[in-house]
Amino acid sequence: MSDPIPSRDSFGSKFGVIAAAAGSAVGLGNIWRFPYVAGENGGGAFLLTYIIFIALIGVSVMLAEFIIGRKAQRNALGSFKKLSPGTPWYLVGLMGIVAAFVILAFYSAVAGWTLEYTANSITNSFQGKSPDQIDNMFDTFIAHPWRPLMWQGLFLIATAWIVWAGVKRGIERYAKILMPLLFILIIALAIRSVTLDGAMKGITFLFKPDFSKLSGGSILEALGQAFFSLSIGMGALITYGSYINKKENLSSSAIQVTITDAIVAILAGVAIFPAVFALGGNPGSGPGLVFETLPKIFMAMPGGYFFAILFFVLLAVAALTSSISVLEVVVAYVSEELNIKRHKATVLSTIAIAIPGVIAVMSWGATSEWTLFGMHTFDFLDWISANVLLPLGGLLIVIYTGWMLKTKEVKEELSSQGKYKVILFPVFNFIIKFLAPVAIAIVFLNSIGVLNL
Ligand code: TRP
Repeated sequence: MSDPIPSRDSFGSKFGVIAAAAGSAVGLGNIWRFPYVAGENGGGAFLLTYIIFIALIGVSVMLAEFIIGRKAQRNALGSFKKLSPGTPWYLVGLMGIVAAFVILAFYSAVAGWTLEYTANSITNSFQGKSPDQIDNMFDTFIAHPWRPLMWQGLFLIATAWIVWAGVKRGIERYAKILMPLLFILIIALAIRSVTLDGAMKGITFLFKPDFSKLSGGSILEALGQAFFSLSIGMGALITYGSYINKKENLSSSAIQVTITDAIVAILAGVAIFPAVFALGGNPGSGPGLVFETLPKIFMAMPGGYFFAILFFVLLAVAALTSSISVLEVVVAYVSEELNIKRHKATVLSTIAIAIPGVIAVMSWGATSEWTLFGMHTFDFLDWISANVLLPLGGLLIVIYTGWMLKTKEVKEELSSQGKYKVILFPVFNFIIKFLAPVAIAIVFLNSIGVLNL
């Protein structure tokens, strides 16, 4: 068969695949988004629902994406076009590209905040401040006319620079060293946090389910957070899947990435909530939660000055390894489908994404009056990506894999042409054909009030 796209880039090794996919999954979603969304949705019951969704649906959606991408050897949109030519399925890929714009717009804003906080740590700006003053520092910063914008711009340039260079020699190499370091640091923070006086309340909040706090909306939030955190539902992992060598074992990669991701989120919760209750703060305080809580932990620990710098640097790195996977979706599409050279595609895509990005980052300043469904731009993009675009994308991806691809083809891809045994295939098949589509549909319809469970 003639292949119109010569020599695509690919991952170098099994560890490279895991590092890149885990690099995509582990990011601000785990450390910034998970604690604040869990805090707003009652804690324990939310955590439990989130874990159930990850185990029951998340892993399978991730695998479905890998299967589509590796089978097609194309970008998110091109994969559907190649596997099902002449059908509207490419629209799923198109929706993913729209989702990439939406996500990167607010994600780059938060990533910019981590850079400001790195700078604050270096200049020792948290020192001697009261908890209230630390909270105020954050509120003042996000409303500043140009600082958030400057950091966002810097972060987008860094993202573009890596995508420009190609993934293999850039981020894959650094992610292998820096991600484990981040992991160790979070464990250190979690330990400091749980040993604070009054920490128990936070642990109880996180681990003791109180189902009266769980509304239909919270269940959708848990599903959305599971999708966001695993980087699934928009074709980022279709795109990465297309770079995975035909010999790699997709199932074991998906399971390892999923477990890593869930552990980091839980550790972030263990680091945040005890401190919120012990050092003053409100678990439901929204997107500022970690930026207000972490500096308080750092000030309460020996060597906090250095830990703060290290932590915010690593958080920025975690954000970077995630944001490149979002930008890669757009760049792979633009270069393969629109036949624009990769370098030019990177520049054009980044500039295009910066437009909604600027609107989002100024949500507490210049664009604070712009609202949609009662939310300002930032909150709206954050909400609609996780709670609408990703679950809808995930729903269509599992339906596609379960019902449009032949069972035999799916099994062949999963087993790498018979190289691996896929013992749990009937389970996976049942999940993608029935369980995941039905569960996602119910959560959706319930939250918009069509169903009333
Ligand atoms: N999963 C990343 C995080 O938790 C964010 C992310 C990267 C993402 N790529 C994605 C989310 C693709 C959805 C889709 O920070």
